[in-house]
Amino acid sequence: MSDASIQAAGTATAERPEAVLRTEDLVGGYLPGVNILNGCSIDAYPGELIGIIGPNGAGKSTLLKAIFGQVNIRGGKVTLKGEDITGLKANKLVAKGVGMVPQNNNVFPTLTIEENLEMGLFLKPSLFAERFEFVATLFPELGSRRKQRAGSLSGGERQMVAMGRALMIDPSVLLLDEPSAGLSPVRQDETFLRVHQINRAGVSVIMVEQNARRCLQICDRAYVLDQGRDAYTGTGKELAQDPKVIELYLGTLAADQGH
Ligand SMILES: Nc1ncnc2c1ncn2[C@@H]1O[C@H](COP(=O)(O)OP(=O)(O)OP(=O)(O)O)[C@@H](O)[C@H]1O
Ligand SMILES: [Mg+2]
Repeated sequence: MSDASIQAAGTATAERPEAVLRTEDLVGGYLPGVNILNGCSIDAYPGELIGIIGPNGAGKSTLLKAIFGQVNIRGGKVTLKGEDITGLKANKLVAKGVGMVPQNNNVFPTLTIEENLEMGLFLKPSLFAERFEFVATLFPELGSRRKQRAGSLSGGERQMVAMGRALMIDPSVLLLDEPSAGLSPVRQDETFLRVHQINRAGVSVIMVEQNARRCLQICDRAYVLDQGRDAYTGTGKELAQDPKVIELYLGTLAADQGH
């Protein structure tokens, strides 16, 4: 057996560090006998911003939910820095450093901004001041309005609270499901900028996005999901210029606007 074959999939090599998060041939779904994920393999390396795009119903949210222990997994596995975390429940995953911002209902509307952020750190309340400072550096408006109830915030502001909450645990990887959905174009731009800033602050990010063209502009690498499989992958730039990806998933507008 050669040295190369001894190297197990998913372990670090001299050239490349170990993946922060990896899914290998994930198969699973919600209902018995109905698989939504049909062998989905993605990985994120330390510091990467990974985009997940694909048509409605492709299984993008399901993939994030499967990583976060909310879908029945029937095959394959999920690893965090090499450790098998397949099927662990959300509270265990948060403790291990997986931050998740779901697509909907991602803040507690009756709680203040500060209380929402406290909920994100329920496992280690003594670190609140330190982590709040980090989050308030990324989102200054949250710091200055900490006593305001989250339910009275705009959609874009709520999205920031939700991201701030997930960042309170100092996650190894942050999972974002459609952070720009339902926002005005100006707020969408701001959200993409914030995600970029979070990533530049050292947080590895896996972001699902409807706004595929914008997503490909800011991510390091991306995956196109189709029918629960990773159909295409490459750098954001490669995918944005790939004729097949443009034709099938981005539309002609993207061909005109992609750079
Ligand atoms: N809780 C659930 N129970 C049963 N089926 C579900 C559930 N949630 C999603 N599905 C099904 O799983 C499939 C994939 O849905 P998913 O939400 O992962 O797609 P998506 O790629 O995130 O789409 P969108 O772009 O519309 O957000 C769909 O056919 C959907 O009907
Ligand atoms: Mg979705």
